[in-house]
Amino acid sequence: MSSFNSIPCIATVSLLKAIKLKGEFLYAHSISVGLLAERVGRALSLSEEKVHILKTAGLLHDIGKIAVCNQILLKPTILNAREWEQIKLHPIIGSKTLKTIPGFKEQSEIILYHHVGVNGHSYPSDISYQSIPFESKIIKICDIFTALTSERSYKTTYPKRNAIEICKKNAPIKRKHLAETIYNALLSTPLMTTKIREIVFDSNDNK
Ligand SMILES: [Fe+2]
Repeated sequence: MSSFNSIPCIATVSLLKAIKLKGEFLYAHSISVGLLAERVGRALSLSEEKVHILKTAGLLHDIGKIAVCNQILLKPTILNAREWEQIKLHPIIGSKTLKTIPGFKEQSEIILYHHVGVNGHSYPSDISYQSIPFESKIIKICDIFTALTSERSYKTTYPKRNAIEICKKNAPIKRKHLAETIYNALLSTPLMTTKIREIVFDSNDNK
């Protein structure tokens, strides 16, 4: 293990355990987004350090949801305005949480903006999509893709190609070759079962 990630790795495992205690679905979603972000980072030929930052940002992008009650997180029907305000706080809470941990400065900034979009449904709402880090845009794409292709009780599971089309509308990457690399990485991603996620996570991060 390289020196730049040994301490954050221990902290990442501890934080993921806290996410797992919050709920299996949130945990499985976090693992999926982290592994997908890692895959996209490699497809873009980012440095090992950048890939590590992207992966841990993906694993921990929803850490702020620990502060949101499960009645809201797991509600199968449309959220009311008060509940929606609670959900909108999770990038800020998550970012503040990571900021207090040595070695998570970049991840703290990346996850703050992982719900900033181009279509007016963004939060935090005072940030423009053009000004957020490129890594936040990658996490956003991985988040949307994972949510659409995962099984949920209240929605159908989207085929990968349909999910890609929705990703393109919600998180466009202007540079064509980057966009194609990202979307090809998503298309080539196996849809992992929870059991496989457990094995991959345990073998890579519990060392
Ligand atoms: Fe989120």
